[in-house]
Amino acid sequence: MMTAPASSTKVRGETILSVDNLVKHFPISQGVLFQRQIGAVKAVDGVSFELRRGETLGVVGESGCGKSTLARLLMRLETPTSGRATLEGKDLFKASGSELRRLRRNMQMVMQDPYTSLNPRMTVGDIIGEPFEIHPDAAPKGSKARRVQELLDVVGLNPEHINRYPHQFSGGQRQRIGIARALALRPEVIVCDEPVSALDVSIQAQVINLLEQLQDEFGLSYIFIAHDLSVVRHIADRVAVMYLGRIVEIGTEDEIYERATHPYTQALLSAVPVPDPEVRDQRNMIRLVGDVPSPADPPSGCHFRTRCWKAQDICAKEDPQTVPRAADPHPSACHFAELRPTTPTV
Ligand SMILES: Nc1ncnc2c1ncn2[C@@H]1O[C@H](COP(=O)(O)OP(=O)(O)OP(=O)(O)O)[C@@H](O)[C@H]1O
Ligand code: SF4
Ligand SMILES: [Mg+2]
Repeated sequence: MMTAPASSTKVRGETILSVDNLVKHFPISQGVLFQRQIGAVKAVDGVSFELRRGETLGVVGESGCGKSTLARLLMRLETPTSGRATLEGKDLFKASGSELRRLRRNMQMVMQDPYTSLNPRMTVGDIIGEPFEIHPDAAPKGSKARRVQELLDVVGLNPEHINRYPHQFSGGQRQRIGIARALALRPEVIVCDEPVSALDVSIQAQVINLLEQLQDEFGLSYIFIAHDLSVVRHIADRVAVMYLGRIVEIGTEDEIYERATHPYTQALLSAVPVPDPEVRDQRNMIRLVGDVPSPADPPSGCHFRTRCWKAQDICAKEDPQTVPRAADPHPSACHFAELRPTTPTV
């Protein structure tokens, strides 16, 4: 039987991951012989949040707003320009040696694309068992195949298929393989970067249900990245909305879906498909005009001002902080934060 990590019995709700003013600027260089830095892509530009034990934090925003870079920073696949993150109180970016190995083991990632994220030349057994090569103590000698079969069973796949190759599985099944690999070292935190975006809608629900079931079973905490507010609603306890490298609004499911105060969140909500034609007709649609500006040259003041229908002079001069607002106490980065009565039900 696969057992939950010992610490999953700890009090649900305490902070497990804390991120403080995290920044990642990718330098833009010019010149053939002598490369000079002429600017920077501000992919992540001062992100702060806390993830509590056992909860799912949804992270939503349009393409290019920095979601994957945030995920890669947390997985230490990128080095931050500045900022801090702690996992179980330990500094994620300063850790080295055995402490880093322990932290790495405790936070795993599920990738977006189940077609490209699995090595086609490796059997499923080798893919899922790969983390045991790096952390042999997680599967004592002789127990690797049994542990892999347990993991296949836990994610709803046939343990007898351990010697098959990725192409012999459907998209949804491949994502289950990705989830099994992420679970192998019994982490407490899993960063899911658009884990269902590449899947058919019918399969998306199955994978989300599986993630929820595993969360209950093993006391997991998730960061769940998606483009779409409707995908996240089913799984997230809290949601962070990102725009051009920043969190512009963050709150509980109710605060974001029923009481959003940031115009960008309100625009994303108004774009969510609504099955009921009556509700659909009644809602007040907001059409976002233009594309997201380049993160190499974001607008002054509020980054959203070039697309915001409420923008005023102050928005170009003063950068609104993501703080509680009079309209509702959850943090929102808008000088004119207000509730929008016609926010649709999704
Ligand atoms: N290694 C890199 N070098 C330079 N720029 C990068 C690098 N990785 C990402 N970027 C840029 O950083 C910005 C944020 O990219 P990121 O992949 O984090 O966005 P995203 O929100 O995950 O987008 P999507 O929804 O399309 O996956 C983009 O402008 C991207 O081009
Ligand atoms: S601060 Fe101004 S530009 Fe930014 S979201 Fe609020 S109203 Fe719009
Ligand atoms: Mg991405």
